[in-house]
Amino acid sequence: MYRSSLLVPAVTLIVTVPLLFLLAPRILPPRRISITVPDELDDLSLFQKAIAAETTFPKHPSHANKAPSNKFRLGSTNAAAIRRPKIAFLFLTNTDLHFAPLWQLFFNGTNPVDPHLYNVYIHADPAVKIGAPNGVFKDRFIPSKPTQRSSPTLISAARRLLATAMLDDPANEFFALISQHCIPLHSFGYFYNFLLDTQKLSHEMQYPSYIEIVSDSSLLWDRYNARGMDVMEPEVRFDEFRVGSQFFVLTRRDSLLVIKDRKLWRKFRKPCIKVESCYPEEHYFPTLISMQDPKGSAGYTLTRVNWTDMVDGHPHTYHPPEVSSELIYTLRKSNSTYSYMFARKFSPDCLNPLLEMADSVIFKD
Ligand SMILES: *[C@@H]1O[C@H](CO)[C@@H](O)[C@H](O)[C@H]1NC(C)=O
Ligand SMILES: *[C@@H]1O[C@H](CO)[C@@H](O)[C@H](O)[C@H]1NC(C)=O
Ligand SMILES: *[C@@H]1O[C@H](CO)[C@@H](O)[C@H](O)[C@H]1NC(C)=O
Repeated sequence: MYRSSLLVPAVTLIVTVPLLFLLAPRILPPRRISITVPDELDDLSLFQKAIAAETTFPKHPSHANKAPSNKFRLGSTNAAAIRRPKIAFLFLTNTDLHFAPLWQLFFNGTNPVDPHLYNVYIHADPAVKIGAPNGVFKDRFIPSKPTQRSSPTLISAARRLLATAMLDDPANEFFALISQHCIPLHSFGYFYNFLLDTQKLSHEMQYPSYIEIVSDSSLLWDRYNARGMDVMEPEVRFDEFRVGSQFFVLTRRDSLLVIKDRKLWRKFRKPCIKVESCYPEEHYFPTLISMQDPKGSAGYTLTRVNWTDMVDGHPHTYHPPEVSSELIYTLRKSNSTYSYMFARKFSPDCLNPLLEMADSVIFKD
């Protein structure tokens, strides 16, 4: 009697306690990771190195706003060609790079005589085991730190990629942030000539960045106050707060602004109180560029996203039955004169249908 009445609660305890530990991660929202002081100091020293190097690197022709010879020209193997501007592709991922073979084809399409017009850098969440990709991705991992959705860690990761790429090669003139769910919509040559179009340069004083900057969105007020009321003041007033897509192409000039910034980062690095309104990476970059180099950005992104029927903050994910040449042509079209260069999100099993149309559709331009 005595025994059994004690035994039942004891057994219940023995069974339920481990069960709770097992289930808690599924029931409770995931614990927010915060940026530790050592991680922050690591980043600061990386940024300072990149900023210091910037003043010692020999001036690149395009820094002086002179039109570099940038069209693909067979046979240009002289020293000047080697100094041609490059594009740094910054892959930000927390899974395998599902579309690595497609990107490999994209990069293989570069002029074989002058293949050194790009660099690849990968920031991969160290908590996730990622298969070692080959080809252009081989050994391109940069020292990375944990990342988590709805936290400023995604800003840190992007800044780490920018600083590493700036430091690595002074010829990196543009920095394109790409996720593992992104696919290219055009060939490398098309993208390169679009970014470094000399005619555009003769009309505008400098090459622009391509980052979406939106000031009239119904989400802004909630997003602005996600860390608490008035927390962003006085560094960022509400009328200075912007939203834009997480994926961008920045010029070296804007990239430098981003890694130099301490003032806005002090605010954006604060954890959110309202996690459902917390997407710091969609605000930090557009707000900073809009405040510090408003004329330096085209104001739109080159990465097409389909926000119809958004689920839990995620855009529409394309699956194999939707993949067709018509889809590629549709995704390229913007409401303006420019063409989108990349699109997301695609499920990993879209790889084969995309590879099948790579030469005949995607890279045929
Ligand atoms: C890309 O080019 C490299 C070097 O020329 C070659 O080894 C590789 O097989 C090519 N990859 C694809 C997917 O064509
Ligand atoms: C966007 O996604 C919706 C479904 O969420 C789909 O019906 C529509 O065709 C997609 N638009 C494009 C341009 O792919
Ligand atoms: C173009 O504008 C229409 C109407 O404002 C909008 O519904 C559509 O999503 C836009 N398309 C793109 C590609 O931005």
